Amino acid sequence: MTRDMSYAAVTARKNEIMKASLGIDFSAFITSPIAFDYERMMRETGYTHADIVRIQGETKVGNTPLYELRNITEAVRKIAGPGKGARIFVKDEAANASGSFKARRASISAYEAAKKGYKGIIAATSGNYGAAVASQAAQRGLKCIIVQEVFDSRFVGQPEIVEKSRACEAYGAEVLKLSVGPELFYMLLRTLEETGFFNASLYTPFGIRGVETLGTEIVEQVRARCGQNPDAVVITHAGGGNLTGTARGLQAAGATDTRIVACSVDLSGLHMASDKDFNRKSFTTGHTGFGVPFATWPDRVDVPRNAARSLRYMDEYQLVTQGEVFYVTELLTKLEGLERGPAGNTSLTAAVTLARQLDRDQIVVVQETEYTGAGKHHNRQLSFARENGIEVRRGDPQDNVPGKAIVIPERLDQVWGKVQDMEKLRQSYLKNAVKALPVEQWTDTDYAFLAADLKMSVDWVKENVAELK
Ligand SMILES: Cc1ncc(COP(=O)(O)O)c(C=O)c1O
Repeated sequence: MTRDMSYAAVTARKNEIMKASLGIDFSAFITSPIAFDYERMMRETGYTHADIVRIQGETKVGNTPLYELRNITEAVRKIAGPGKGARIFVKDEAANASGSFKARRASISAYEAAKKGYKGIIAATSGNYGAAVASQAAQRGLKCIIVQEVFDSRFVGQPEIVEKSRACEAYGAEVLKLSVGPELFYMLLRTLEETGFFNASLYTPFGIRGVETLGTEIVEQVRARCGQNPDAVVITHAGGGNLTGTARGLQAAGATDTRIVACSVDLSGLHMASDKDFNRKSFTTGHTGFGVPFATWPDRVDVPRNAARSLRYMDEYQLVTQGEVFYVTELLTKLEGLERGPAGNTSLTAAVTLARQLDRDQIVVVQETEYTGAGKHHNRQLSFARENGIEVRRGDPQDNVPGKAIVIPERLDQVWGKVQDMEKLRQSYLKNAVKALPVEQWTDTDYAFLAADLKMSVDWVKENVAELK
């Protein structure tokens, strides 16, 4: 008998497909529609920190340089008040195999897949993660399939994603290129089932544990150079794995007082699943279209529970505009001689705002760079924006309108990230928790889980959920 491959039938088999393709039994950790034993799930990957460092060392991941951005720091000091203008450092994650921190995330999955005897590895992603999985698979002798949303219905590809398809193919992966829509998840499930390959989902504990080394390296390097922990680490935020893994690493290395600052490009008003809006944005990750929904309900992913839980670790959330990031991208190139890609430069933009307010002897670390070139390059993105009818001009970045106008600052003092209301974000998470399970059914375990997931007390959760009613 042939299997029913209709959309409904394949998605109905999702639990069994996920179990076979991951080897993780999530039901062992889950205690309710809300709570699960997060730390146990992370521990039971079975890898120690030392194992992860060793595995990553085998495939050209980690040990990336930390550079001090002296010229940008000087430029910030010129516009900062007396005594202000913290030292800005950047962790050059473009030095990883495949050119971004995503190699850390892919490395443990590829190792696990090879160890367990899978013949290949699959990931659904339009981002750098595809290239990272492909590069790690190539080194471990695994086949690789990447499922990507590339096109709108006119068959026009977003240049950054087109570049990432190219990179995946260059590393030897087969790329299934889709248009925007719900078929991504269906195609992922179907391909996993048909091939029996390993699911290198972005959101498994393997991926997030792999990013922890980024946090520990930052602490070790800053301590060695400056004799102290970083005061703030700025992290570009989308699905939350970058922030979660790095923050866990910082904590593991003892930097428990370091301020964890998330940053995303403000794309409010644009709908991520909209065919029309798909090509009206110049950033394909690190933006609010992912950053806000994933922070306020992480369990919206392709695995039963998401190991990336940003509100557990986040102290501050800044939004910046597309125009500001383009300006800072040029600044990094022209002042520091580093030509790097969009996602890392998003957190550099927030770091400018932060450094301006901190004292001169304080230390701000921009936690990543990514490679650039072709469709990832800001010049290509700006001409693509113009081709799509978006106005591009110099002026006050406050006048940016996502999908309509990109306004590139004229001067550095116009770069000023907007700090978001963390309480509002946490409340919106609580609203989603109520949707998952009516509050009358919450147990002490649910309250304790929510408090930990929101970095707040059980009393805060109780008061705020009462207010929602
Ligand atoms: C280079 C780079 N930085 C940051 C991010 C954001 O990471 P996360 O989705 O884990 O928040 C991504 C994700 O696509 C990325 O590719």
